[in-house]
Amino acid sequence: MIYFDNSATTQISPEVLATYDTVSKKIWGNPSSLHNFGEEAWNLLEQARQQIAKLVGVKPSEIIFTSGGSEGDNWVIKGTAMAKRRFGKHIITTSVEHAAVRNSMAQLEELGFDVTYLPVDKEGRINPADVKAALRPDTILVSIMAVNNEIGTIQPIKEVGEILKDYPNIHYMVDAVQAIGKGIDDIVFSDRVDFATFSGHKFHAPRGTGFVYVKSGRKLEPLVAGGGQERTMRSGTENTPGDVAMARAIRLVKENEATTVKTEQAIKEKIYDYLQQFDHVKIFSGRQEGFAPHVLCFAIVGVRGETIVHAFEEKGIYISTTSACSSKKHAEAGTLAAMKVPENEATSAVRISLGDQNTLEEADEFNRVFDELYAGFKKIID
Ligand SMILES: Cc1ncc(COP(=O)(O)O)c(C=O)c1O
Repeated sequence: MIYFDNSATTQISPEVLATYDTVSKKIWGNPSSLHNFGEEAWNLLEQARQQIAKLVGVKPSEIIFTSGGSEGDNWVIKGTAMAKRRFGKHIITTSVEHAAVRNSMAQLEELGFDVTYLPVDKEGRINPADVKAALRPDTILVSIMAVNNEIGTIQPIKEVGEILKDYPNIHYMVDAVQAIGKGIDDIVFSDRVDFATFSGHKFHAPRGTGFVYVKSGRKLEPLVAGGGQERTMRSGTENTPGDVAMARAIRLVKENEATTVKTEQAIKEKIYDYLQQFDHVKIFSGRQEGFAPHVLCFAIVGVRGETIVHAFEEKGIYISTTSACSSKKHAEAGTLAAMKVPENEATSAVRISLGDQNTLEEADEFNRVFDELYAGFKKIID
């Protein structure tokens, strides 16, 4: 099997699973318990926090563990709204965010907040000048994803940060779920970014793990109130095995990051260059500059995305329609619609998303299978 659906999720790695297993079996005390057994779990959890902080270049106190990307996005958005509602009710985001951001914004709109959705160009990218133009005295939050999950566009996070330096009270959040291990930490953790959200299962950590970078001094109301864990910012008994395993996963990702990025880019280019020669193929992702190395979105115009996904599946190759969350709802891709891609092209779109286990040989096999399937599809289209 060839697994080209790593933006949907990744397989937990054996080392990470071993860590999870060991901690679950041996150090299963509650980190809040006063006895040694609890203290041992607490120490391990704090060690995991320190490791993650070091690997991404921030302070341990700036890492808050969560259950994943959706929780992180919901928390920063709603936590900002709750903390700053007396100062203003205006939020700026983009028209290409993941549903976790989009639907959090929609909930806030129901509560009377005003959300500006920035348009994107034909590569799915916002213009920083539009952020500046959208700013108002009552703006409390700017939320922009680092890497788009449907087509891989890298957003101008630093440039927006430069603009926001003149507006120090506005929270600046980056959904970095698709950005980890892709060689762009300098963008994600650029100095004006206040919050960045991450999801463990996108980098071989267990499901139900994640973390948020919360810059020192920035205040959010908690979304999950309770016993005051995570320095009162996220209550609930800590997922010690999951968080310790996630620290290991991130270490592995970081150790191999340079090689992974190079290989993913080479695989992407090999497939990109091959696909370009086919009349009915439309490629939505950029080949290099301004795009992440692991996402390639294209359409065989005239064939529905689901049909393409299942045809590849029969050949043992796993890809997806543009995002796993929307694919079951048969929704037209949000990002492609925002890019004003015609509906007949958007409904034909599929996404290849690469991970560190993929190889150039798999790219060759993909291209061979593509050739075979295309010949069949062409008969239907022509
Ligand atoms: C950009 C982006 N944000 C948020 C999420 C949600 O993450 P999770 O699945 O951990 O809730 C995803 C998942 O695909 C994503 O791609």
